[in-house]
Amino acid sequence: MQKGVLYGVGTGPGDPGLVTRRAWQLICDAKIIAYLAPDTGDSFARSIVADAIAANAEEISLRVPMRPGRAPAQSIYDDGADQIAARLEAGQDVVMLCEGDPLFYGSFMYILARLKTVFSVRVVPGVTSMTACAAAHLHPLVARNDMMTILPAPLDDDALRQAIIAADAVAIMKLGRHMPRLRALLTDLGLAESTLYVSHASLERQFSCALHEAPDDAPYFSMLLLYKGQDPWIRT
Ligand SMILES: C[S@@+](CC[C@H](N)C(=O)[O-])C[C@H]1O[C@@H](n2cnc3c(N)ncnc32)[C@H](O)[C@@H]1O
Repeated sequence: MQKGVLYGVGTGPGDPGLVTRRAWQLICDAKIIAYLAPDTGDSFARSIVADAIAANAEEISLRVPMRPGRAPAQSIYDDGADQIAARLEAGQDVVMLCEGDPLFYGSFMYILARLKTVFSVRVVPGVTSMTACAAAHLHPLVARNDMMTILPAPLDDDALRQAIIAADAVAIMKLGRHMPRLRALLTDLGLAESTLYVSHASLERQFSCALHEAPDDAPYFSMLLLYKGQDPWIRT
């Protein structure tokens, strides 16, 4: 029997209008949908494309407890990969939803790593949260020969400091409880004035402001953007 295909599909940063046509069509046609969800509550990726999911589609919800500073237990991905593999082995296609882009800090990669040597896998890229945050600010991410660095906030202060100093443009993700530490670090580097904060980019509750107005306890879906290069609209 021919095996099924696993599709890793980006659902974009939140606004259903930012889901690609290919992703939307695959989700509409899917008989089996998989996604990661927190231990309680809904999957964000699923909520973005809820209108496209057929009422009779089978849904595989992989519950991943998110604990600050700790990677989820690998056994959860093992179990999820096993559930998906069983459908693929039986010749059924599976569409796995992933918020933003599946391969940009996306948990889809843990399933991909487990299944790609055995099954056909295709990835449909999505609009990333980083580009959605830049759009929220009407601010360039990078220009000319600038070097851009993407940093997860849980890195220690020394690693953050060195990377920020070396970069022309920086995106800092996964802010959460790290905001007070990041604010102090960026202020110490003299960069607080040029740092922008965005939460829930592309959603109705999108919020953006300068760093000094940003909350200390940032929501999970938030990011800092910092541009240290020369403003690209200045002609030289
Ligand atoms: C595990 S990463 C997932 C990234 C996602 N795969 C992407 O392509 O953007 C989660 C982080 O992405 C950022 N993020 C995701 N969606 C966001 C949004 N709508 N607005 C602001 N930040 C967002 C936050 O920094 C969050 O902590």
